[in-house]
Amino acid sequence: MSQTSTRLSEAHYGYIAARARAEGAFLSELKKEASRAGIPSIAISPEQAAFMGVLLRSAGAKDVVEVGTLAGYSAISMARALPTDGHVRTIEFSATHADFAEAQIARSDVAGKITVHRGAGLDVLPTFEAESADAAFLDADKVNYTHYLEHCLRIVRPGGLIMVDNAMAFGHLLDEENQTESVVAIRAFNDQMAADPRVEGVIVPLGDGFWVATKV
Ligand SMILES: C[S@@+](CC[C@H](N)C(=O)[O-])C[C@H]1O[C@@H](n2cnc3c(N)ncnc32)[C@H](O)[C@@H]1O
Repeated sequence: MSQTSTRLSEAHYGYIAARARAEGAFLSELKKEASRAGIPSIAISPEQAAFMGVLLRSAGAKDVVEVGTLAGYSAISMARALPTDGHVRTIEFSATHADFAEAQIARSDVAGKITVHRGAGLDVLPTFEAESADAAFLDADKVNYTHYLEHCLRIVRPGGLIMVDNAMAFGHLLDEENQTESVVAIRAFNDQMAADPRVEGVIVPLGDGFWVATKV
């Protein structure tokens, strides 16, 4: 670690989060409504959404693929960072989540920029054309991350972005006593990302930590 590195404390993190672009009234209300509808509160954090927006805008991304829609929070956040003819294809396995997200997207400011694809990531991803996306965001079942990565390496154009959530395994990454399936899968995935010559990335410590990588 370089001498100028600062170890992030909770206070530092709060300082950073307080200076990220605010999520705004629509997304704040979406989360409350989702919670009232019994949808789990597991969307990305506002500061992560803000950073993903910076990345997508600076990459000039137009087409984005997401696995894991939930209530539509990240899909709407990403769509807002795309040009007017940009589009997010988001995949959701749960009909309840897909119904809720579609209703929210329809009344959002990016209604025409998002399509919810219903089904399992492993079934829907193979239907997407090669090099048809500028960026992908993986945020669904962790045990399939390695398979999703293979699909993304086909779907995302060379030089495109691959972002993957929960690199810190819900806070359990370094707790060796935790051997739950998802946590073990994330540890293996992190090692794969670090070693795979087809991607070049880094884990960014926002939210639960997420990979930001480019397809080489
Ligand atoms: C962490 S949430 C996604 C949060 C969302 N990206 C956000 O930040 O607003 C994970 C979602 O993935 C969905 N999911 C789980 N397994 C899936 C699968 N095999 N294929 C597609 N979606 C899946 C879950 O139903 C859930 O809605």
